[in-house]
Amino acid sequence: MSIVKLARPEIQALHAYNAAEQVDDTIRLNANESPRRSTVGSFRRPLNRYPEVRPQRLQQALAERFGCQFDQLLVTRGSSEAIDLVIRTFCRAGVDSVLVTAPSFSMYRHYAEVQGANLIEVRSMPEQDFAIDVDAILAASDDTTRLIFICSPNNPTGTTLPRPELERLLQARGDASAIVVDEAYVEFGDHESTTALLDRYENLLVLRTLSKALGFAGARCGAVAGPASVVAMLSAVQAPYALATPVVECVEDALQDDQLELARETVAEIVAERERLAAALANYDFVQKVWPSDANFLLVRMVDALRVMRHCEDNKVLLRHFGGDLDDCIRISVGTPDENNRLLQALDTLRDRENG
Ligand SMILES: Cc1ncc(COP(=O)(O)O)c(C=O)c1O
Repeated sequence: MSIVKLARPEIQALHAYNAAEQVDDTIRLNANESPRRSTVGSFRRPLNRYPEVRPQRLQQALAERFGCQFDQLLVTRGSSEAIDLVIRTFCRAGVDSVLVTAPSFSMYRHYAEVQGANLIEVRSMPEQDFAIDVDAILAASDDTTRLIFICSPNNPTGTTLPRPELERLLQARGDASAIVVDEAYVEFGDHESTTALLDRYENLLVLRTLSKALGFAGARCGAVAGPASVVAMLSAVQAPYALATPVVECVEDALQDDQLELARETVAEIVAERERLAAALANYDFVQKVWPSDANFLLVRMVDALRVMRHCEDNKVLLRHFGGDLDDCIRISVGTPDENNRLLQALDTLRDRENG
């Protein structure tokens, strides 16, 4: 059974925006555009024209890259927009709920609040390296739970939900909830993308991004993959012409073989640096724990996390602190070898000051 029926009734009934036709080699007097081509930038497509309503070639290229069919994918402005679209499509304000694990990426909560959806928070298991607790998720879900966000690898803990556990969740919720797997960091671990499961589970949505492993955070491009019927609904909710011409062209270039090879090399370097950094961090007296990570960051528990943060900031190295359950932790994004050395030098001066 399809999860289309879980969507807000008005969205199920919504028609896609009826955009002006865009046909090559025609005189276009149908979209109130300027007839003059701009001389700004050096884009392949004219900026005086609207971009395609949905960028077809890019959609095909990303579907191939992420391992799904063309009609199973919607290109979005970063995966952030996909989170927003999914919540707006499925959740009635004050009625439906979004289930999130904690700690996790804060934008799920943010967009749930924007939509007025109720929030169910299920804590992961700190004593098991913040493993996601599928039993607790199932116990906390009810018939208002439209969406369950699973960030895997999880930000900020770096944990991946094992495939059998994910499938247990998909099967147990069936057509009662959409399971939204956010794979922003999947390229940094050894686990296959869950898009491989799309043909088996009608309640699976997968979020991907070009902001992390591909290195194009500034382009704002991501995607949501899922059943074609659900993707069509999400597309009807998304703004027409959402992806700007410069972004489309930049991402088309980013998906060329030479750029992909560079991105693969960068990922390999980041993974190697992550392990070097993890080993080096473990040597400081004020570091209590470095969690294993499948992502491009490390979560580290410190004796006085805020003091370490401030010291690094004084040395022009910015780290991330979250508070709450992670009050004694810092998240460190893995940089270039030089940047990581700068961090370690800053920590050395802190250690020397303490010992000296
Ligand atoms: C887990 C997770 N999902 C999504 C995003 C948003 O990424 P994007 O740049 O694609 O909007 C981030 C960004 O940090 C993230 O950590």
